[in-house]
Amino acid sequence: MKVDLIIYNAGQLVTCASEEKPKRLAQMRDAGLIAGGAAAIQDGIISAVGTNAEIFDDFEAENTINAAGKVVCPAFVDPHTHIVFAGDRINEFEMKIKGADYLEIMAAGGGILNTAKKTRAASLADLVEQSSARLDKMLAHGTATAEIKTGYGLDTETELKMLQAVEELDRNHAVDLMATFLPAHAVPPEYKKNPDEYVDLICGEMLPLASRWYEMSFYRNGIDTGWTFNTPPPAVQKDIKKFALRHKPLFVDVFCEKNAFNLEQSRRILETAKSLGFKLKAHVDEFTNLGCARAAIGLGATSIDHLDATSDEEIRLLAESDTIGIVTPTVNFNFGAAHFADARKMIDAGCAIALSTDYNPGSAPCPSQTMAMAIACRYQKLLPAEAFNAVTINAAFGLGLGEKTGSLEVGKQADFLILDTKDYREIAYEFGSNFVETVIKNGRVVFNG
Ligand code: NIG
Ligand code: FE
Repeated sequence: MKVDLIIYNAGQLVTCASEEKPKRLAQMRDAGLIAGGAAAIQDGIISAVGTNAEIFDDFEAENTINAAGKVVCPAFVDPHTHIVFAGDRINEFEMKIKGADYLEIMAAGGGILNTAKKTRAASLADLVEQSSARLDKMLAHGTATAEIKTGYGLDTETELKMLQAVEELDRNHAVDLMATFLPAHAVPPEYKKNPDEYVDLICGEMLPLASRWYEMSFYRNGIDTGWTFNTPPPAVQKDIKKFALRHKPLFVDVFCEKNAFNLEQSRRILETAKSLGFKLKAHVDEFTNLGCARAAIGLGATSIDHLDATSDEEIRLLAESDTIGIVTPTVNFNFGAAHFADARKMIDAGCAIALSTDYNPGSAPCPSQTMAMAIACRYQKLLPAEAFNAVTINAAFGLGLGEKTGSLEVGKQADFLILDTKDYREIAYEFGSNFVETVIKNGRVVFNG
């Protein structure tokens, strides 16, 4: 059979194959290796995966890529980032080196509020330009699908401007994007004395407007589908790169933490979001356990993220649920912390664990999922195979995209990396190097290092 593209001669084809489920327990230790592997691709979709001999027996293609004995694996998925923001926080980096604490900096109007000031003042074009440069770095480090959160606006206008920025980036950048609406990232200064009124604003105005904005993306694209948020989306329009049109859910997230949002406020926001049809995520237990893991799992959240102070009982609940646990060891590393989320215990308990960079200007200025892997292997005791599954298939499930990307399996998007190594474990073993040589997204080369 004739296909568009054959990638062949992979010394190791790391498939991360999972048969439509996130990986748990022993499956996490299986990277799904095929020695001397190849893949056939048609219309941006994987037609077949196998050995060189199997693929060349059944397929021929005008375009071929010889992986020359290197590692070929799924392109990485980064399921938790905050990369739409203006400016940087290099000054706070120095303050932290000298001993200031993240929550103290935040309480004094720094941290997220510092970035919010700059983000409010930035134009949409400026935000898109700064964020696009960050996406370039992520792509160069192998990430071809990523989530981006709002949360540096903290007012209706800027939060919607951030959603608009994600949409523009998704349309124009090779990295495929998912948007998460996070007005509940910090209490803005205007509401410092009465945070519940900010929660009223989120539930009464911001969430309904974000839902409306999402519906309207069809109209902005010039297509009147008659679709509303509560009916199933229309069929994918092939040539239109637009996230609402590609059956992407919009997520709502909340930062449940001391000096941010308490459990009652977080639950109210998540429940309101759920009733409006959003999918849910939650920042839980980053510093303090306020009980939000249980609440978010109970509401059917797609993921709960951070998990640094999560209890054994909550780990058991997570293991029994379909919710993905997303850990962010770049944050602990960035703080020079001795404590890390106990991802080892979570995996051994049966949780489906994913890794993210949490790329943001404060707690994790890091574009690289391989850096997250390197830290996770050392401080959270993940094996390289577990770290691989955590940045591919489980990360895809952490965005509700597990059936589309994150593994090299028939019917999935042809999202590949060629890594300049012969042993897939080397990318976690050697740190500080970038092994990414080629990124292929939907069957097209989008980066060549
Ligand atoms: O995931 N925890 C809250 N949000 C980010 C930090 C964002 C920032 O510091 O700007 C996080 O760590
Ligand atoms: Fe975060």
